[in-house]
Amino acid sequence: MIVPGSASQDIAAALAAELGEPLAPAEYERFADGEQLARVPETADRAVVVASTVTDAAHVELLQLQDAAAQQADEVVTVLPYMGYARQDEAFEPGEPVSARAMARAISTGTDRVVTVNPHEAAVCDFFDVPCAAVDAAGRLADPLPDLSEPLFLAPDAGAIDHAEAVRNEYGEGETDFFEKHRVSDTEVEIKPSDAATAGRDVVLVDDIIATGSTMSTAIEQLVEPARVFVTCVHPMLAASARTKLANAGVDAVYGTDTIERSVSAVSAAPAIADEL
Ligand code: R5P
Repeated sequence: MIVPGSASQDIAAALAAELGEPLAPAEYERFADGEQLARVPETADRAVVVASTVTDAAHVELLQLQDAAAQQADEVVTVLPYMGYARQDEAFEPGEPVSARAMARAISTGTDRVVTVNPHEAAVCDFFDVPCAAVDAAGRLADPLPDLSEPLFLAPDAGAIDHAEAVRNEYGEGETDFFEKHRVSDTEVEIKPSDAATAGRDVVLVDDIIATGSTMSTAIEQLVEPARVFVTCVHPMLAASARTKLANAGVDAVYGTDTIERSVSAVSAAPAIADEL
């Protein structure tokens, strides 16, 4: 039985359909003091809790769903379509926490195994005290793309080149390249253009996540006279003014998956997750 987190109901329903398993009628409540209560009135022998930890509240809700499910099921599997705090996977400055490890340890206490989708670094799985698998849904971002002219699939930094190649491979043709990125602050990045020619070509930018939109909007500014610009990512967080930044940068369309449910969630990561389950 699939147990949906309140912020992951679309992908939970898609996963239930993929697996042919029923959806648990989970309930979510918030009390006057701000505390939450998530209930799982019924589940089966295997409970698959599907919850992107997009907010701190979603983290708390996930722990509650796992605990409620564990009281009824023989096996609890936790699917984190998007794992919050995964990018703080080391202490970058003295005194900082390894937030990804802290979250992973907490989640591990209530589950038998974990499946997550395109974490920022695959090594984040090592932080869990239970088996964890990372699945790759980047290739699915080729599905919503229209017919492209002389396509160039660009990663905004070297770390995202695998994602750009996955989308190019699924699309079936095109060149790939990547920019060099230096992060100045939480909301500011510097990007050096790649050598690939962009004039008159359709450019598809591919990344694991769009958070503030700084990376993608700065990358778009480096493109010289492209025909059209498509921005794609697995996790469309689109925090604060990210969507406006992208629009002002001149993007033609934004496509993401449903690991984070947004209006741009054009494809589902559920088939990739179902294969792992
Ligand atoms: C970092 O290396 C990631 O792959 C993304 O490029 C980054 O997290 C995107 O963040 P933002 O949209 O805030 O620039």
